[in-house]
Amino acid sequence: MSYHTTVQEVYAKAAESPEKALCCVPQRPMYLPGLKIPSIMHEMNYGCGSTVHLQDMSKDQTVLYVGVGGGLEALQFAYFSRRAGGVIAVDPVKEMRDVAQKNLQEAAKLNDWFDPSFVDIRDGDALDLPIEDQSITVAAQNCLFNIFTTDDEGVGDLEKALSEMHRVLKNSGRLSMSDPITPQPIPQHLKDDETLRAQCISGCLSYETYIQKMVDAGFGSIEVRSRRPYRMLDKKRYNLDSDLLLETIEVCAYRTAVPADGPCVFTGQTAIYTGSDEMFDDGKGHTLVRDIPMNVCDKTAGALASLNRDDLTITASTWHYAGGGCC
Ligand SMILES: C[S@@+](CC[C@H](N)C(=O)[O-])C[C@H]1O[C@@H](n2cnc3c(N)ncnc32)[C@H](O)[C@@H]1O
Repeated sequence: MSYHTTVQEVYAKAAESPEKALCCVPQRPMYLPGLKIPSIMHEMNYGCGSTVHLQDMSKDQTVLYVGVGGGLEALQFAYFSRRAGGVIAVDPVKEMRDVAQKNLQEAAKLNDWFDPSFVDIRDGDALDLPIEDQSITVAAQNCLFNIFTTDDEGVGDLEKALSEMHRVLKNSGRLSMSDPITPQPIPQHLKDDETLRAQCISGCLSYETYIQKMVDAGFGSIEVRSRRPYRMLDKKRYNLDSDLLLETIEVCAYRTAVPADGPCVFTGQTAIYTGSDEMFDDGKGHTLVRDIPMNVCDKTAGALASLNRDDLTITASTWHYAGGGCC
């Protein structure tokens, strides 16, 4: 029996009786004026962060949402697109699709502007998306891809799922993801536990591997929108040498070619020039206005730091980057 069977069983059950503690991180729901969210959608919030970033939203976007859950984020995306089929949500678990549909009907009762046709819920799998090539502007998944197995040869389920997202996105399209990550490798006895994997605990990758998997799939520019504590795995209950604090990360990755000198990964670093001229030009397309912090990707931050100049300051990663940068 593959772990997918366990995953489907866990989510069929979570569709039938909401489990508040499954995956979620306690955080305030995003307030959007004129959007009333049915309480059942909050109870079924099985994400570990958000894939809906206000600064990125537009009316014209066509969103693919993979792993619909209770439908909360699909509804939030539909708030912006407000047209039939503006959001396509895919899930292989019938019970989950049925509940999401019902929850969207509830949402329509609470919100005049919303029609359930705004979200087209389809039977489908992240590993074989029922979506045409290059037809999507925003592809999102929340707390699903961490469940997938990966392998060093690059042909695991995670690699397949990322390559499917890349295939369906238009050029420059955005992949918005939220997943737990781990500071150190998850021990094998937890990795092998299919239920813990389904519950978004034991499939987590390190930050470095998580980012690299997106780059390997062809995403040339990646923005870390948030990174914060997710869940403590207590050494006694999880049979570990020491407690393990997992984190949750929100990223947006763009379907742009990976530059020859490596991807642009933005983690909130800035570069500040304080010299005698009004500007500093590094000759590689980066112009810093004196005294003004400029967002730079980690690659550029490293290159500027290696110049060892007294008039250049490079600030540390904040793990909170919201757009507008050097590359
Ligand atoms: C952890 S829940 C997250 C739900 C939702 N994204 C949220 O944030 O509340 C994982 C979701 O992915 C669905 N799922 C499981 N396996 C899947 C697969 N292979 N392809 C697409 N969705 C899948 C589950 O049915 C469930 O709805």
